[in-house]
Amino acid sequence: MTVVINMRDGVDERGIKIAARFILEGKLVAFPTETVYGLGADALNARAVRRIFEAKGRPADNPLIVHIADFSDLGRLARDVPREARLLAERFWPGPLTMVLPRNGNVPDVTTGGLDTVAVRMPAHPIALALIRASTPVAAPSANISGKPSPTLAEHVIDDFYGRIECIIDGGETKIGVESTVIDLSSERPTLLRPGGLPLEEIEKVIGGVEIHPAVRGKLVDVARSPGMKYKHYSPNAQVIVVEGKRENVRRKITELVHEYRADGLTVGVMATEEYDADEFFHLGSTEEEVARNLFRALRELDKRGVDVIIAEGIEERGLGFAVMNRLRKAAGYRIVWA
Ligand code: TXA
Ligand code: MG
Repeated sequence: MTVVINMRDGVDERGIKIAARFILEGKLVAFPTETVYGLGADALNARAVRRIFEAKGRPADNPLIVHIADFSDLGRLARDVPREARLLAERFWPGPLTMVLPRNGNVPDVTTGGLDTVAVRMPAHPIALALIRASTPVAAPSANISGKPSPTLAEHVIDDFYGRIECIIDGGETKIGVESTVIDLSSERPTLLRPGGLPLEEIEKVIGGVEIHPAVRGKLVDVARSPGMKYKHYSPNAQVIVVEGKRENVRRKITELVHEYRADGLTVGVMATEEYDADEFFHLGSTEEEVARNLFRALRELDKRGVDVIIAEGIEERGLGFAVMNRLRKAAGYRIVWA
């Protein structure tokens, strides 16, 4: 049985108590964060964490992020907190930043996928923080079946997990819509492992230049440092195609592609920042913040409407656009049309 707790109007202490008890009993609780919904379990309870992997169908070597609510929790998880990590935590926590640090011995192997590092983040969401404070550090991947678009609404979590986890907290739509930025601070040079809700430009203002792991750009060179990068991601059932290039060329190309696919008898959906004529259309908004917030929802909704092909308009790669384009290209399996 799944208990769905409505907190769309804000934190409800009684509901938090119920959810925290589930966590402490080794059960699974899906909860909202400012980025996407997470599928949480007690990070220090190996059996509980194993259930996350089972429920998601997640490969065991893909490590989880441990969510904390207070700076003092960091010492329980990380063996060493380098200077850069301190600076970033002071500036951006709570917030959409995950830091990979050398791990402490009491974090179970299953949580870190057997790595000698642990990924930690303090989410900026009152429900997430209340849940963690009332229980313990919470390991949580995005609350989607492995390979599907991340959930930005409780409905998405219900679609994937209803009847299969103990509790879902409905906190309404998540604000940012793409997952946290992941940065590795466990080795010589700070390295970006995943662009996300905190723009890289902001991080570089605080600690200077950051290396970008080649896998971020889709090149699978060395995946050992963040095994998550090698798996198929964010894919709806429909085939996604991303169109990138100069704005006016993109417009022409998308229109052309819609005609071609329709001529082949396929149902075509378009997701873009301006209106298009297609079988189905999803308006992503016009700012990069709006596009980030709507991205995963658009993929899931167009899929529900039964299209065969989703044509997505590319946006500029700066700010949140870096995360948006990273997710879109993965959703498309790197089927990119240059206009
Ligand atoms: O915004 C988010 O980060 C959301 C919310 C729920 O906090 N969580 C999330 O978790 O996106 P997940 O599991 O979907 O993505 C975690 C990413 C994966 O790419 C994983 O490989 C990487 O973080 N990761 C986790 N631990 C790591 C570690 N020790 N070293 C390198 N990468 C790690
Ligand atoms: Mg995920």
